[in-house]
Amino acid sequence: LSHPCIFVLFGGTGDLARKKLIPALFRLHAKEIAGGRFAIVAVGRRAMTLAEYAASVRPSLPDSAEEPFDEALWKLFCDRLFYFRLDFSEDVSAFQSLGRELSDLDRRFETCGNRIFCLAISPVLMKTVIQSLQDSGMIHNEDSWQRVMIEKPFGTDLESAAQLNRSLTSCLPEERIFRVDHYLGKEMIQNILSLRFGNILFESVWNREHIDHIQITSAETIGMESRGAYYENTGILRDMLQSHILQVLSLVCMDPPKALDTRSVIAEKVKVLRSLKLTENSEQRARVLLGQYGPGRIDSTDVPGYRKETMVSESSLTPTFAALKVYLDMPRWKGVPVYIRAGKRLDRKIFEIAVVFRHPKDLPRYPEFTHALPNALIIRIQPCGEILVRINVKEQDADQPVRSVVLDCSEKCICRQNSPESYERLIQEILLDHHALFTTWNELSHAWKFTEKVEAAAAKNSYCFPNYPAGSEGPKGSYDLIGQDGRHWMEETDENL
Ligand code: BG6
Repeated sequence: LSHPCIFVLFGGTGDLARKKLIPALFRLHAKEIAGGRFAIVAVGRRAMTLAEYAASVRPSLPDSAEEPFDEALWKLFCDRLFYFRLDFSEDVSAFQSLGRELSDLDRRFETCGNRIFCLAISPVLMKTVIQSLQDSGMIHNEDSWQRVMIEKPFGTDLESAAQLNRSLTSCLPEERIFRVDHYLGKEMIQNILSLRFGNILFESVWNREHIDHIQITSAETIGMESRGAYYENTGILRDMLQSHILQVLSLVCMDPPKALDTRSVIAEKVKVLRSLKLTENSEQRARVLLGQYGPGRIDSTDVPGYRKETMVSESSLTPTFAALKVYLDMPRWKGVPVYIRAGKRLDRKIFEIAVVFRHPKDLPRYPEFTHALPNALIIRIQPCGEILVRINVKEQDADQPVRSVVLDCSEKCICRQNSPESYERLIQEILLDHHALFTTWNELSHAWKFTEKVEAAAAKNSYCFPNYPAGSEGPKGSYDLIGQDGRHWMEETDENL
């Protein structure tokens, strides 16, 4: 494969660049994806030398017993890595000098003027950067291609996202815009479509008649690290629900598209996102619960509460946990709740979808099987990709006639932190000009609309923060939220999970 290109990384000194993008670029470099005709220019506001920049990103690169760090490869990588200081508010001449530097690199690395401009910066700065790229003539060149990769969050709310989208589309045609949700680059998320539409076993029962409810859990052990300032204005709903969780939900719940091409899949995802609502029929009140962590212990270490994190207000009301009950206004899902919970500083790192099946209408409830647990399909994204199916089998020589077993259908379990891999995949897709793993404005706008509804519903309750200690399972209320319906989170009923 040869896709000559310069990867211009705005936000080069940021958390995302350091932790995910540079490691992904390093792995792509190792695979020689661009046939050696590749360079990276990290752009940041801070003045620093290339040596300082390289030293600042080096600790994020994996170094383990199975995969010892390849110093020689790193040296070759650094030969293609550059740092350019630029204050985004500077006038267009500063961008023009970046443009000249990129043209020099074109000559050196034979990158032909092709660019991926990656905006890993705060959404409030994106508009300015796009405008300056436009004004300096850097995003239009007849003889080469320029693509823009936009990191999440896309805007900070519906209105700012719409504004950002307007600026973006007034400068660039849609086919050159790649809106990132890194979950779409994860192997196991891509597996959802294969699992659903490649198996009659699941698809024939994928509806309200056979599915009792769905659970989506996103639990993380990490706290704010250096992201306090970002998180203060974001919180769990805008950080995780608006993006990753709603994307996953739309893949799990969409009707079968007429073909598996990008356009048809997105059309069905959009139908799901537009159909989201917080109450069904007789229910008067939306069920939304927010939480914020206080001090606690994680992995035998004391950790501070959210309000003591760097750049966080001592009286912050930003939620770091949310649990909610959602419905879909679609014939397939009428009356089937989707329970969602997500939080930071919990007792484990897990992202999973559990589809819990119901007892068939026409099957008698045999007393012998009273203790049988409902069948369930679990798609686990984190900490590693797994597909588990819970069934009941006969218990040999025991009083109980059945016991539940969990079948592990995972082809292989990739027990690594998988975000660098997902970014690697996404950058590769941009080089190939493939759009399937990126989100569209249509999806994002509906996701924002729903997130704002959730925020409005949550604001009707009063909270006393902090309401869960770091390292715990989150606020007790999340168990009541599902328990009120006589249901339980998966781990409450089944120790095999
Ligand atoms: C990011 C969020 O998009 O996803 C972070 O901003 C979150 O807050 C991260 O920690 C989770 O990604 P992953 O790949 O580690 O599950």
